[in-house]
Amino acid sequence: MTRRAERSILLVVCGGIAAYKALELIRGLREHGIRVRPVITEAGSRFVTPLSLQALSGERVFSDLFSLTDESEMGHIALSRSSDLIVVCPATADILARMAAGLADDLATTVLLATDTPVLVAPAMNVRMWEHPATQANIATLKARGVEFIGPEVGRMACNETGPGRMAEPETILAAIVNRLDGEPPLTGRTALVTAGPTHEPVDPVRYLANRSSGVQGYAIASALAAAGAEVTLVSGPTTLPDPPGVRTVRVETAREMQAACTAALPCDIAVCAAAVADWHVIPAPQKIKKTTPDAVPTLKLVPNPDILATLSQPSPMRPRLVVGFAAETEHVAEHAGAKRLRKGCDWIVANDVSPATGIMGGTENEIMLIDATGCEHWPRMDKTQVARRLVARIAIFLHTPQPDSEIA
Ligand code: C5P
Repeated sequence: MTRRAERSILLVVCGGIAAYKALELIRGLREHGIRVRPVITEAGSRFVTPLSLQALSGERVFSDLFSLTDESEMGHIALSRSSDLIVVCPATADILARMAAGLADDLATTVLLATDTPVLVAPAMNVRMWEHPATQANIATLKARGVEFIGPEVGRMACNETGPGRMAEPETILAAIVNRLDGEPPLTGRTALVTAGPTHEPVDPVRYLANRSSGVQGYAIASALAAAGAEVTLVSGPTTLPDPPGVRTVRVETAREMQAACTAALPCDIAVCAAAVADWHVIPAPQKIKKTTPDAVPTLKLVPNPDILATLSQPSPMRPRLVVGFAAETEHVAEHAGAKRLRKGCDWIVANDVSPATGIMGGTENEIMLIDATGCEHWPRMDKTQVARRLVARIAIFLHTPQPDSEIA
């Protein structure tokens, strides 16, 4: 992964008594040569002043979503992507709830919703607020989306109660940030296989059967896996896309060639089958089929192709630890894709509606449902590169979480 010359974070300061610790954190970050751009919420500014944040960070403090100067100098979208990491400190029960709900009613939440930069939160709240089922549900939602938590610690709080809820100390947060910025990418040492694009099944030396897949989503996944440190083999059907940098790309034409290239890439830790593989091939005519009379229409005999995803998913010592399939559907998406997951034996299915009206097939955006053994999660419509990054973040979490042996025996 390329590291920027100057590492920088966006520090979102919310309204809690622990906000004063954010000042100490800024000092520590600056000592480590890390640039800090502060964003402060309305409530945050009741606890620390923007002037203090500005003086310590040496940067302009962002607070107002609707400020015209903010928009002319740096809009909230640019701001959300301007750093290597976004840190929410202190993260109140309120901001966690608003993040989990996907609200965007102030600058902080808008930036957090618009970003595809990793997010680290340092919660700070009363013990009962921390333990409340609503907060715990929000935390589970955010963790499942890849948000990293540092703390809280157990101890005596400003409200005189004792228990979990006290914000981690600034040096602990600092260490987590430095580790995150300087540490190894999460899929270092892992190997991944990605299939992408259509397949072309020759009919004769000049004609073939194909489909409309562009390969964009699969290529983006291969790139995101490589950016996360994995060693990636991309087995691609015919596309107009260039080989993604840092990825070993194997170009194939037919489903059977794709199958052979996938088998050759085993063993691997992760397999993502994003290719739109033709279900059938024809035994190609050795010479171009000639048009003789208008009535003499040739009949093509279709022969089933191997199912690469189902083959990779079969229990075997060579089975990747995580096999992800795609399901392009035009109706009853969740239902059909869920059934496909079971039929193919893969762990996850990324399902999408490819009805022409969605503009997804061949487009730059995607709107998916991620289906695993526990259920179905709908992701909002976003750029295919963002889908890829988010999927890869989920893959990294999965691989870092011990799994019961039974599922993939
Ligand atoms: O069966 P269907 O084509 O709808 O399944 C889609 C999923 O199966 C995709 O992940 C696709 O890459 C994979 N597939 C495959 N080999 C096939 C057909 C589909 O790997 N022959």
